[in-house]
Amino acid sequence: MVSKFPLSLYIHLPWCEKKCPYCDFNVTTNIPDNFSNFSKALIDDLEASSEWIQNRKFSSIYFGGGTPSLADPSLHESIIKWLTKNHLAQSDIEITLECNPKETNLQNLNRFMDIGINRFSLGIQSFDEGVLKDLGRNHTYKESYKAIEELEKISSRKTIDLMYGCPNQTLEKAAKDIEVFSKSNIKHLSYYQLTLEPNTVFYSRSPKLPSEDEIEAIESACKGILNNKLFSQYEVSSWSRGNDLSTHNLNYWNYGDYLGIGPGSHSKISIEEKSIRFTKLKKVSSYIEDQAPKLMQSIEGNELDMDIAMNFFRLKNGPDVEKIETYLQLSNEFLNKCKNAQKEGLLLKDKLVPTQKGFNYLNELIALF
Ligand SMILES: C[S@@+](CC[C@H](N)C(=O)[O-])C[C@H]1O[C@@H](n2cnc3c(N)ncnc32)[C@H](O)[C@@H]1O
Ligand code: SF4
Repeated sequence: MVSKFPLSLYIHLPWCEKKCPYCDFNVTTNIPDNFSNFSKALIDDLEASSEWIQNRKFSSIYFGGGTPSLADPSLHESIIKWLTKNHLAQSDIEITLECNPKETNLQNLNRFMDIGINRFSLGIQSFDEGVLKDLGRNHTYKESYKAIEELEKISSRKTIDLMYGCPNQTLEKAAKDIEVFSKSNIKHLSYYQLTLEPNTVFYSRSPKLPSEDEIEAIESACKGILNNKLFSQYEVSSWSRGNDLSTHNLNYWNYGDYLGIGPGSHSKISIEEKSIRFTKLKKVSSYIEDQAPKLMQSIEGNELDMDIAMNFFRLKNGPDVEKIETYLQLSNEFLNKCKNAQKEGLLLKDKLVPTQKGFNYLNELIALF
């Protein structure tokens, strides 16, 4: 039977000019002069994935990284063309490209728009020179401002990433970041608290971070400014003005399927009452040789309930029930756990919507599954 789960595509492009000391993504600074071997591997990977795609049309494509804007647009174009040729792209498909400020200029944005990219996600992180330096970024505050100016000129959808809880970041600096952003015409923000991830430079040599109280104060003040500027939070780290939400990420949180291609990418495909998860080899040279799924896992029972809960309840208003009913049959066990969460005041009565307490204490809510 053909799967009714909506399907999105994630493509990992792992190159960065410089590795940031807090970053644990699969990244390399070894940028090739020629992307043709890599491009062929991505197409081979897609061609070998019919078992997972099952003739479904993709609702979104996300070029993530790394810094996908560093690779030549012909690489991205070959993927989009392959999907179109094989009738695997929905007519209203969202195609996002992650960019770093250094490559964000009008000429580059136009080149990417010409090949079909219709949403840009820009990693600004901060508009403060000291914060950027302490984060070990390869761009300056002037480049942050310039990139925003360039992005404002185009009509495509756009979003930026900002971080808080950064080394030496004061409340004033964090609030200024939000003020600057909210004056732009960009209607979507991903707002992340800096986390110290194992296997990063910051993890082994932690810089001086704001205290927990300071981070709480930053979070509360900055969220207040966003609300005043008519932004609303729709997910743990996602804010939007109007209804400019990320189709791609909503598919993750509504427990849709996704196929990952590229080194170290992850996939989740639902088959009957199970979720199949797998990854691809992490090293670029290994991936070019072998794109077969690795570390395949089947998730079912309690583990599946928790997996679903971890996605659903990141959404402030819970999952899109009308939509998920068309593809996902929630088990009685899952629904009973929801009833417990309702009794504990972590979910709204008779709804799959977290209460304010449930949203604030997400780990407690998820632990009930
Ligand atoms: C894969 S990065 C891609 C964007 C681009 N390469 C960049 O860094 O500007 C996606 C986003 O994750 C966030 N991020 C990365 N490492 C993080 C960490 N340790 N804690 C919190 N956010 C992090 C950053 O905001 C970053 O923009
Ligand atoms: S630019 Fe982005 S992906 Fe690259 S190392 Fe820095 S945070 Fe990681």
